[in-house]
This record gives sequence, structure tokens and C-alpha cells, in this order.
Amino acid sequence: MIKISTSILSSNNREECIKNLTSTDYIHIDIMDGKFVPNKQFTIKEVISLSKISNKPFDVHLMVNNPIKYIKKLIHLDNIEYITFHLEINKNINKLISYIKKHNKKCGISIKPNTQVMDLNKYLNNIDLILLMSVEPGYGGQKFIPNTINKIQELKELTNKEIEVDGGINNITIKDIKDKIDIAVVGSYITNSNDYNRTINELKN
Ligand code: DX5
Ligand code: ZN
Repeated sequence: MIKISTSILSSNNREECIKNLTSTDYIHIDIMDGKFVPNKQFTIKEVISLSKISNKPFDVHLMVNNPIKYIKKLIHLDNIEYITFHLEINKNINKLISYIKKHNKKCGISIKPNTQVMDLNKYLNNIDLILLMSVEPGYGGQKFIPNTINKIQELKELTNKEIEVDGGINNITIKDIKDKIDIAVVGSYITNSNDYNRTINELKN
């Protein structure tokens, strides 16, 4: 069954939101530096304090130009399971993978909608997860880009590593990807709903 990683980015009370997310498989944390993407979100301090009020595993998505700076501060948090950075930063990719793996965290690499799946090829053996962006990273509440479905297919021909898709997922768009991927990141569709856990269960079934 597909797992749901709830993005709390667009929630207006992240602390309350996390406390109520009992049915989610993961909590998705979208860290943005205002450089890799125009938006700036989450301080390290905030992530550390949020990690203390939840016993759910965290799935950290770094939309930053210089991931190591953030990774070093987060790597020792016990409830972080995945740390994912972007292929488009284009430097020190192998070093980042080894650093994350050495500290016993799962390592993911994400690609933006216009980056080719083939560009991931040389890293696939060394990572745990591929995060396909189905919107341009930077903001919640955008529309799902349908070409993501072709990219999932291409990726499945290259690897059997875990595949996660992020952006614009709701009760309609999840239908086309549900049987093909391992983890769906869902933000505003859950955090705007009246009953998070019912919404999560409906998305999964
Ligand atoms: C976008 C973020 C997503 C986003 C998902 O840059 O990576 O995780 O918060 O939110 P929705 O589901 O609202 O598109
Ligand atoms: Zn994300």
C-alpha cells in the first residue's frame, strides 16, 4: 500500500498540525533557502523543536543550494528517516550521499519537473529513494504536472529503489500514481481538510 508523507509547509500552525497527524506514515519537512527556490521556509531550530513533539518519522526535503550545512545540523535527530537533496545543485553529490549513509539515514535525491530521469543514473545504486517533483519546487498548493507519470515509468525501468512523488497530489491525481510509487507527499489537500486522518485514509484506499 502507498505511504503518505504529509507536508506541513502550508499549515498555519505547524505544531498543532503535527500533533493531529496520527495516520500519516511520514512528516515531510520542506526546507527552503530562498536561493535554490525563491521561498524561505523552516529554520533548523523549528525542525528540531517539531521533531520533539512527534513520534512519526521525518522525511526531510532540502530545497537548498548548500545541503551539507543543513545536513550536519539535522543528522543526529533520531526521528529523521530520510534526507533528500536536489540533483540540480550539481556539486558534491557523492560526498553528500556518503555523509548521509554513514550516519545511518536513508538518502534521497530529488529532481525538478524539467530534469531528466536519466541524469540520476549514476547515483541510483547508492541511494535509497528518488523524489520526483510533480510541481516546480518552492510553494504548496500548485497543480500536478501530468508528465510526472511518464517519468515514474522511465524510472521504474531503471531501478527498483523507492519512488516518492511530491506536489499537487489530491484525491484525483493520486489515482494515476498510487499503484506505481512507494510514497506520496501530500500537503495542502491534507492540511486544508477538516479531518487529516480521514483524508489520509481515503487517499490510501
Ligand atoms: C513544494 C514542496 C511540496 C509541497 C507539497 O516545493 O516540496 O512538498 O509542500 O504541497 P502540495 O501538496 O500542496 O502541492
Ligand atoms: Zn517537498
